[in-house]
Amino acid sequence: MSFFNRKVPEAFLFLICLTTIACSPSNEDPQIGFQSGAVSSAQPIASEVGAAVLQKGGNAFDAAIATQFALAACLPNAGNLGGGGFILLRESSGKTRFLDFRETAPERAYRDMYLDSNSHVIVGASTLGPRSSGVPGTVDGLWKIHEEYGSLPWSDLVQPAIQIAKGYTLLTRESYLANKYAKNLEKQNGRPFFLLKDKGKWSPGDSVFNTDLASTLRLIADSGRTTFYRGSIRNQIIRETSLKGGFFTKNDFLEYESRWRDPLEFTYKEYNIVTAPLPSSGGIGLLGILSILEDRTVSDWGPHSPRTVHEVVEAEKIFYHQRALDLGDPDYYPVPEHLLSKDFYRNAGKEISDMARPSSAFKRPKMELRESVETTHVSIADKDGNLVAMTITLNGAYGSKFCVPGLGFFMNNEMDDFSIKPGVPNQYGLTGGEANAIEPGKRMLSSMTPTIIEKNGKPYMVLGSPGGSTIITTVLQVILNVLEFGMPIKEAVDAKRYHHQWLPDSIWMEPGLLSGDDSMELVRKGHAFKKEEILGRVNALLLKEGKIYAGPDRRWDNAAAGY
Ligand code: DON
Repeated sequence: MSFFNRKVPEAFLFLICLTTIACSPSNEDPQIGFQSGAVSSAQPIASEVGAAVLQKGGNAFDAAIATQFALAACLPNAGNLGGGGFILLRESSGKTRFLDFRETAPERAYRDMYLDSNSHVIVGASTLGPRSSGVPGTVDGLWKIHEEYGSLPWSDLVQPAIQIAKGYTLLTRESYLANKYAKNLEKQNGRPFFLLKDKGKWSPGDSVFNTDLASTLRLIADSGRTTFYRGSIRNQIIRETSLKGGFFTKNDFLEYESRWRDPLEFTYKEYNIVTAPLPSSGGIGLLGILSILEDRTVSDWGPHSPRTVHEVVEAEKIFYHQRALDLGDPDYYPVPEHLLSKDFYRNAGKEISDMARPSSAFKRPKMELRESVETTHVSIADKDGNLVAMTITLNGAYGSKFCVPGLGFFMNNEMDDFSIKPGVPNQYGLTGGEANAIEPGKRMLSSMTPTIIEKNGKPYMVLGSPGGSTIITTVLQVILNVLEFGMPIKEAVDAKRYHHQWLPDSIWMEPGLLSGDDSMELVRKGHAFKKEEILGRVNALLLKEGKIYAGPDRRWDNAAAGY
């Protein structure tokens, strides 16, 4: 099955069929290899767009821009113009950089904005409709990448997305989500728009036409970031969201700026791991959990043995507990330095025993982790050795569910990633984290974990995933599967997964991960389970012996393309 079999506009087919590109959906070839350049993303057509850019002579950074714009068109639940994300990149020289284009809290935001007069959380206030949106960062982030690294004209990189927006074919996950959220989408928009169906349900293979988005992308193709942050797109976002209770100001958009940050970097055995710094907790999560595991003989235990699951889960509890206590936007909160130290976690790991430690055994419990699960990750490698790990998000599926009239894109609900009730005990007696309280201009804590791994100073792996709080443990497991258990990248990505985040006190587990006996052994150690159909959806690349091997997750529609 290749996307060429599906119904897409002929003009677009012509555009990317100029060159031959191998496109391998996730559940076919166990080893998907490319010679020169590759893109792995959540949608075959978006990977094709990125790979076509590479083959035309563009670099990995050009391909990242084109792929994300394509995802904004064909993956409206997570690809976006109205959200934000992170790009971790490695130049062919070996220099690594991290661009944070996370959303920010609007200037009129305030700490208790989602609480009623009795200090109770107003259900849905931080997740639905324009009041749940932060100031979008995606267009600024992509523009910044283009300014510093672009080798092809910006408008050429936006053009394929314009074609997709004019008519594209729904795949399985997009049709499933559009049906699943149909009621909310209708309620938040109260008018016909591209993803509302007159009658019946969406099916894979249906065509979608988003001409409003095509016009918006045309403006962006012509003006770069200007119309979005200073011109007509901004004005329309402000006008339309304020009609629905939103409170963006012109200043919010004038002042928005994505930020270059130093990536978080640490060693794990002979590997160098380069990953997301704050305001993502993802990199610190990898640092913490891997530091605890580093001195243990994990490879002897096997990927899913009770011993491995027990030790990994106990290490995860230690990190997620710290995450809840003290992580937030470092520009607003003095995050304690020991949380970046391997020794701190090594010492904390000494507490791990043969039995499960109940969540209640951890001191100072503070905050409920409530995170949602739609985001998307893209991994790219080009012929010169440039790499991109890019995770982008609206937060929940379709973000706030509010699609800006006339513009054809959804606004995020990233405000829900703040601790919306800091300092006030919730129904379990837990109180919210100060570090991640709402403040104007502040970035909400993230779990997104775009990661690049070097071996002997050379690029080795590029990976990342959606999945809210489960992103960190998803990325962790793919890393362990390759580095400790020697799996090929596709197998490492496709393997079953599990997750623990300290609260709630259970191991989230994909069905079929453990045998009955192994489950019983974990129960005897004091663990409880919660079934999760799917944990994460990884897109990864592994560079070995001059080839690029792709690991597009078998979970849903991920696919790699390259040449
Ligand atoms: O930044 C974060 O951590 C969340 N907004 C990500 C949400 C997410 O991954 C949902 N994914 N499937």
